[in-house]
Amino acid sequence: MIRFDEQRRIFQLDTQNTSYIFGVFRADHLLHIYWGAKLSDIADWDQYMHTQTRAISPQDIGFNGFSTNVAKMEYPTHGSCDLRTPAFECTFDDGSAVPQLRYKGHRIYDGKEGLHGLPFVYAEAGDRVQTLEVELVDTVKELHVFLSYTVFEDYDVITRSTRVENRGLKVKLNSVMSAGVDIPEGADLDFMHLDGTWGRERIPARNPVFCGTQMIDMKNGASGHYHNPFICFPEHNADENHGRVYSMGLVFSGEFVGGAHMDCYDTMRAFIGVNKFGFGYTLETGESFQSPEAVLVYSDDGLGGMSRIWHKIVRERICRGKFRDIERYALINNWEATYFDFTLEKLIAIADRAKEIGLDLLVLDDGWFGVRNSDSTGLGDWFVNTEKLPCGLDGLANEINKRGLKFGLWFEPEMMSPKGCQLYEKHPDWALHINGRQSSLGRNQLTLDLSRKDVCDYIIDSVSKILSSADIEYVKWDMNRYMTEVGSDLLPAERQCEVKYRYMLGLYRVLEELTSRFPNVLFESCASGGGRFDLGMLYYMPQTWTSDDTDAVERLYIQHGTSMCYPYSSMGAHVSVCPNHQVGRTTPFRMRGNVAMPGQFGFELDLAGMTDEDTKEARRLVKQYKELGHIFHKGDLYRLENPCNGRFAAMNFVSEDKKTVVLCRYVIATQPSNKYKYLKLRGLDPNAVYIDRESGREYSGALLMNVGIPWVYKHDYESEITVFDIKK
Ligand code: DGJ
Repeated sequence: MIRFDEQRRIFQLDTQNTSYIFGVFRADHLLHIYWGAKLSDIADWDQYMHTQTRAISPQDIGFNGFSTNVAKMEYPTHGSCDLRTPAFECTFDDGSAVPQLRYKGHRIYDGKEGLHGLPFVYAEAGDRVQTLEVELVDTVKELHVFLSYTVFEDYDVITRSTRVENRGLKVKLNSVMSAGVDIPEGADLDFMHLDGTWGRERIPARNPVFCGTQMIDMKNGASGHYHNPFICFPEHNADENHGRVYSMGLVFSGEFVGGAHMDCYDTMRAFIGVNKFGFGYTLETGESFQSPEAVLVYSDDGLGGMSRIWHKIVRERICRGKFRDIERYALINNWEATYFDFTLEKLIAIADRAKEIGLDLLVLDDGWFGVRNSDSTGLGDWFVNTEKLPCGLDGLANEINKRGLKFGLWFEPEMMSPKGCQLYEKHPDWALHINGRQSSLGRNQLTLDLSRKDVCDYIIDSVSKILSSADIEYVKWDMNRYMTEVGSDLLPAERQCEVKYRYMLGLYRVLEELTSRFPNVLFESCASGGGRFDLGMLYYMPQTWTSDDTDAVERLYIQHGTSMCYPYSSMGAHVSVCPNHQVGRTTPFRMRGNVAMPGQFGFELDLAGMTDEDTKEARRLVKQYKELGHIFHKGDLYRLENPCNGRFAAMNFVSEDKKTVVLCRYVIATQPSNKYKYLKLRGLDPNAVYIDRESGREYSGALLMNVGIPWVYKHDYESEITVFDIKK
């Protein structure tokens, strides 16, 4: 997997289908050579290193003509000859800011040691995984930078991260990218990312790469609704099924930056890491800093091929715990059914109906604790409100359990309400704040200072107490505001720009502790819907509430964009009432069910108030979900129709054993006299015969893929889920 050509000093990292190559150049510069489709041999790479003289580029010391300003650099710094966007920036004790990193040595070992205190892509015993750690050093300042590369051979994935060890005088890190890759012929590529806001998260945006810098970033303390820590670079003509695509994601839930700088020679420097805006991290002698991990995926098979690689690694080597491999719960959440206005009787009535239609679990959402009848009070007081629930959580859980359902509970542990909150009365300083300035509110609440150990311990204790007090088998972990006026009382002035990073380390400690104390609890993350849908959260919680927008049509766009790198097994998706609460649209019950079906399926409406017809349909949907869930969650996804194009959405899933194919299709906007349409499936065995489970019709795989299924439709919001089994 990882080879080092001693003579030429070239590293070649091979996955099953890709190669990543870089080398040590004459004065111990680390130069990038190649990332892309697999190459069998270590060649004579000199001619690929961009080492020829170019006008006005400063020349690196000791070389006549060679400039790191035009070479492809593996981990570039600023201040000497490379004048492009650097991967690493720091300020030394003497005020100088010119780090010069040179190759010092490396080690290659089997497996992966992992990252301390941060989530990462892990290896399991038996995986074909190797790690290369390259040590760079600034000898003048005794600053050591370790670049880690892990090859997950069978997954076609390479991960990268950066650790900095200071053995010299005090240094302030200003930017430490997790990965940067210099790719030639950047002008042939597009920059694609997932953008949005509350209620319309992760909609793909795609524009040509231009000369200069393009980037997305978050400055709010979270991976966020506006962008997502995932970037990709497809060739201009790459589509779902064809073409080269480079992509990178960050295993991190805080502020990030991702982008590309293309120089005047069309070399594109792609980068991803913690946002350097407002960031700074001081290292005293002997201290070190670990960056989050970046995941690198290259595919020759278009966006679809790229997504399937992401889906597998996320499902199998980012998500953890007992719920990683088993089918999870089909649930009912009371939020859109009652909001804060629930009673025990109402919950029981919903539970009775939930059991009747075959669901597994009832989630009690916001409002069960402290003084909390609206979103203006109570956060932080994690004890049950016995006025609302006289039988306590234990009593409620028993009632739910008696009905044959499991019980789940909502928390928002990272927050505190300044009004109606005992915690705030005792510890106003536990909120992030800047002394002498007023703190802004978001949803009437303040963010707790998770850079503090005592605050994290409080969260661990109070959530643990509740989870131990009743039979709670699911937790929805919400987070509903962005950070402002960020400061912490416990850090000195020069370390205030570390608070947001330390917050994430604190949060990850809390999540590690709680998920290992309660391994039988299924955790789902949420941040006003999908405001923290990222690889970091998925490491602790295998599913995320995809969006607060539960409208079926809007969800088609959101789930389509989300599926670029996140599998359907990670997307919470619920059937809600119509007219829809977010957009007022009315869609048939079946359409809502069929849109939610491939995700982590559930309901979010007053089940007890459903018509008989809807109840019957709900029962059918749950049954179908239980039959097909494993195919959506473990099978391969092929996107067939992009809803963003306007009229239709369609995709097919191929089961792990390749024996079953599920086709999901949705009409968004029909026309009179509509055109003939054939849906061409993907990923099938052309020589096999497939039988439509419902109609009994037989088709060859070649027919389904080349001619397609005639799609006869008439009205908006028609939808169908069709199952084909291979004929034995
Ligand atoms: C925001 C979440 O996204 C919703 O699903 C719900 O849990 C509310 N918070 C509760 O306040």
